[in-house]
Amino acid sequence: MPTDDAIARAAHSGACDHGDPAVRSDIAAIPDYLSDTYHWAYLSPVGRAIFDHPLVVHGILWGNYSRLMRAALQEVAPGGRVLQTACVYGHFSVRLAERVGPDGQLDVIDVAPIQVEHCRRKLARFPQAEVRVADASRLGDRGPYDTIVCFFLLHEVPDEYKTTIVDGILARLGPGGRAVFVDYHGPIRHHPLRPVMKVVFDLLEPFAERLWARDISSYASRTAGFTLRKETFFGGLYQKVVFDRTDQPADPS
Ligand SMILES: C[S@@+](CC[C@H](N)C(=O)[O-])C[C@H]1O[C@@H](n2cnc3c(N)ncnc32)[C@H](O)[C@@H]1O
Repeated sequence: MPTDDAIARAAHSGACDHGDPAVRSDIAAIPDYLSDTYHWAYLSPVGRAIFDHPLVVHGILWGNYSRLMRAALQEVAPGGRVLQTACVYGHFSVRLAERVGPDGQLDVIDVAPIQVEHCRRKLARFPQAEVRVADASRLGDRGPYDTIVCFFLLHEVPDEYKTTIVDGILARLGPGGRAVFVDYHGPIRHHPLRPVMKVVFDLLEPFAERLWARDISSYASRTAGFTLRKETFFGGLYQKVVFDRTDQPADPS
């Protein structure tokens, strides 16, 4: 977890320094797991240029990208206040901004300034969308939100981050709010891609296989006050988990 000291050091050293003052003014430290494990994919301009195409994402998700996007988008009510907890390659954020519509508000965060800058370009034509640098494990007091969408972030973070991210998301939902997680899931036993994905995870995605063993809901410190739904896709390789907040806010009188 990045400590306040780590963030202050990053700010001081310019670790997150960036040409765009709007990006620079909102500094979050790049977590170690991201720079150690995923530099090639998310922090390098070369990685971004290679991977940020819908067709590439379709390939990475074995042709399930559209289906998984649709599954997430159908949980989002137009006109609401919505948070996307990390940028995603391809056009998911654009589809989300369209779904939220001009009467809603979309906040997109990412801990990597290079991703924020790029996503801002994608969303430039949507006045309802704002993209900023922030760590999904430190959501602060922004919100509350009607819907928070966590699309393929959890599998990329270590377990202690998974817990903080899930708890933080649930805490930032307003009354009647909804959290939507779409991510990897343990495939059925004889799934032909099971051994392939195991090798991919072993080589490239060391925190992903935990989602084969643990339910996303098990990362929440508290599930009282929420109803839960889970749906799996493509022989169980992917999942959507939805938390609907059902408790009422305390009566201020
Ligand atoms: C959400 S995942 C999406 C992966 C997916 N395979 C895709 O197609 O893009 C990747 C993004 O998460 C961001 N990220 C990683 N850890 C984060 C954190 N703690 N807070 C916010 N963003 C984070 C990375 O910078 C990257 O832009």
